[in-house]
Amino acid sequence: MKTIFITGSNRGIGLELTRQLLRSGNRVLAGSRDPEKAESLRALQREFEQLEILRLSVDQEDSVLSCFDQLASENRKVDLLFNNAGIIDWSNLNEVSPDSLEEVYRTNLIGALLVLRASLPCLRKSSDPLVVNLSSRLGSISLRGNTQLGGALAYQCSKAALNMLTKQGAIDLEPQGIRVISLSPGWVKTELGGSEAKYEVGESVRLMLETLQNLDPKASGIFLGEEGSEISW
Ligand SMILES: NC(=O)c1ccc[n+]([C@@H]2O[C@H](COP(=O)([O-])OP(=O)(O)OC[C@H]3O[C@@H](n4cnc5c(N)ncnc54)[C@H](OP(=O)(O)O)[C@@H]3O)[C@@H](O)[C@H]2O)c1
Repeated sequence: MKTIFITGSNRGIGLELTRQLLRSGNRVLAGSRDPEKAESLRALQREFEQLEILRLSVDQEDSVLSCFDQLASENRKVDLLFNNAGIIDWSNLNEVSPDSLEEVYRTNLIGALLVLRASLPCLRKSSDPLVVNLSSRLGSISLRGNTQLGGALAYQCSKAALNMLTKQGAIDLEPQGIRVISLSPGWVKTELGGSEAKYEVGESVRLMLETLQNLDPKASGIFLGEEGSEISW
């Protein structure tokens, strides 16, 4: 049984990751901004005693520190961390406001960094710790120009920056045995992805978990698609 921390787990991909990982016998620490209102998570908790719901707003440093300081003080380990919490603004280069850019960066990049840093004491307690940053093909600089999608400037920049956090994190944390990868879930039917998306959330999560299952035990500092193929940065 692994202990898995998932940010933004009250809906969408985070909720489905929680559900499938519990079903396969793991312990899940599920971060949610507002546990009292996280009805789907609370319903899951009635089914699985290995689910713990923790209050966590990734864009607020106090919240991140208090969540992980508590876990560290209890000597808890985390084998797998999903930096999943994310937001999007679809505005393009002409429309995007500085405030929105800051808000998207605060959650998608700064939040991921704060969570990664605060979770290190718990990750070090694992024999094979892995950090998975939920990235996006929209964050691939190489893929720009090859797709109809695009224009969500703040989101795209934040995911490209998240990919750099993956790469630098993999290098900096390698001496501690902590691996870091970026993983794209594909285009998924959630509030963020919209109803036209390619995947049902269950299918995307199934593919991502299969990819992680088959991951080279040394893999770190790479950017993968849901089905396991490498995406160019
Ligand atoms: N759906 C797609 O097609 C797609 C494609 C590529 C990448 N992704 C990435 O996959 C991840 C999950 O996306 P999704 O589609 O599941 O989105 P979603 O359905 O909109 O869910 C986002 C989750 O993140 C949480 N969240 C947002 N800001 C937060 C914050 N500051 N602190 C803590 N939690 C926060 C939300 O909590 P609240 O309920 O409290 O708002 C919610 O639980 C994101 O990183 C996204 O960029 C998604």
